[in-house]
Amino acid sequence: MIIKGHIISAEEFGKVSIVENGYIVVIDNKIEGVYQSLPEEYQNEKITDYGDSLVFPSFSDMHLHAPQYPMLGMGYDLQLLEWLRTYTFPTEAKFKDSAFARKTAQRLAKDLIRNGTTRVAMFSSLHKEATLILMEELEKAGVCGYVGKVNMDRHGGENLEENTGESMVDTKDWLNQCNFPHVKPILTPRFIPSCTPELLTFLGEIAKKEGLPIQSHLSENTSEVDWVRSLENVDEYYQAYEKYGLWNSKTLMAHCVHSSEKEIRSMAENGVYVVHCPASNNNLISGCAHIRDFLNAGVKVVLGSDIAAGEFISMFDNVKETIKTSKNREIMDNWETPFLSVEEAFYLATSAANEFFSEGPGFAKGNSFHAIVLQDGDLLSPKELTVKERFERMFYIRQRHAIKAVYSDSRLVFVD
Ligand code: GUN
Ligand code: FE
Repeated sequence: MIIKGHIISAEEFGKVSIVENGYIVVIDNKIEGVYQSLPEEYQNEKITDYGDSLVFPSFSDMHLHAPQYPMLGMGYDLQLLEWLRTYTFPTEAKFKDSAFARKTAQRLAKDLIRNGTTRVAMFSSLHKEATLILMEELEKAGVCGYVGKVNMDRHGGENLEENTGESMVDTKDWLNQCNFPHVKPILTPRFIPSCTPELLTFLGEIAKKEGLPIQSHLSENTSEVDWVRSLENVDEYYQAYEKYGLWNSKTLMAHCVHSSEKEIRSMAENGVYVVHCPASNNNLISGCAHIRDFLNAGVKVVLGSDIAAGEFISMFDNVKETIKTSKNREIMDNWETPFLSVEEAFYLATSAANEFFSEGPGFAKGNSFHAIVLQDGDLLSPKELTVKERFERMFYIRQRHAIKAVYSDSRLVFVD
């Protein structure tokens, strides 16, 4: 497969590479290279020519909750713990109904693909059947990545709580039953207040034995942090994950808005990923994460929509929210913390997550081929724009039907 267009990717943090009228060559479902002129050996191959369109890597959404998708855009009048009890747990409880779960999963999968998100780290609900249905529907639509059956055996209220034994058995059954080529399991203790020490110990043991990745929430809200300290008798929230073996280089921790210096240091030392979810942090008035400080400390940072606490399914919008939130951080820090540039935030939404999927940045040789093709010819412009200017503008405004094609693991999964 050979794709032609203006090829744009984030080779390193803060730096985009632009190859105008360039070629991406994909052989045996792996990227062979990006070229300014097509090498002699490929001259007779068929070329898919996207003309003046921009070709980006597709996005990775590294934190979202499938069973919350039906309540997108609602209930942003409460902070985290009340929000969970009042709106979220009752909504997630509906995933008990497999037909409802399937309908939700189908719609979410379709919306992710048409918005250019082809890789995810996603929470399901505690329901085993619904989780298998979700994985099946993502696979069918062409969404790749990780999905977790949520573990929660305390503080879930009447309709959203397992007992400890049930949670363990269902987790094992789910792990045995999920066998999809592109959608893999990830262990998902909801957060410390949702899981008993016994359950966390069990999850830490299977993480180690099976080498499975882990996703959860960390230091999102000040009341949550206080609660965890008293529940687990720790000084720092992260120590509650660490003591159960849930703190390593395959761990994704959403939010980290209120992480202490010690917590940040431990994330850097252990290779734990921070999943920055600015739309959620703004909606639930959680706070304004110190992303620049994380990056300076050597912490790996990726982006998440945190649907439905965040309202944007499009990672274009989440990149924009990342930039704007970092500008507020700069104001709050007396103009001492530089905001994140478009190039930097684009890296976090694409290349930074590649590492979690064991791939190189951008369209690196050997990567699987994930890409979106974008058009902007309907927008007014004050002058002829450079490709770089067109790239930057995409995150702020897009024409209707801006996304013309989406490729996921070399498969053309969307055309407009
Ligand atoms: N902490 C525990 N559960 C959740 C959730 O569903 N969303 C968010 N934003 N934080 C959480
Ligand atoms: Fe979340």
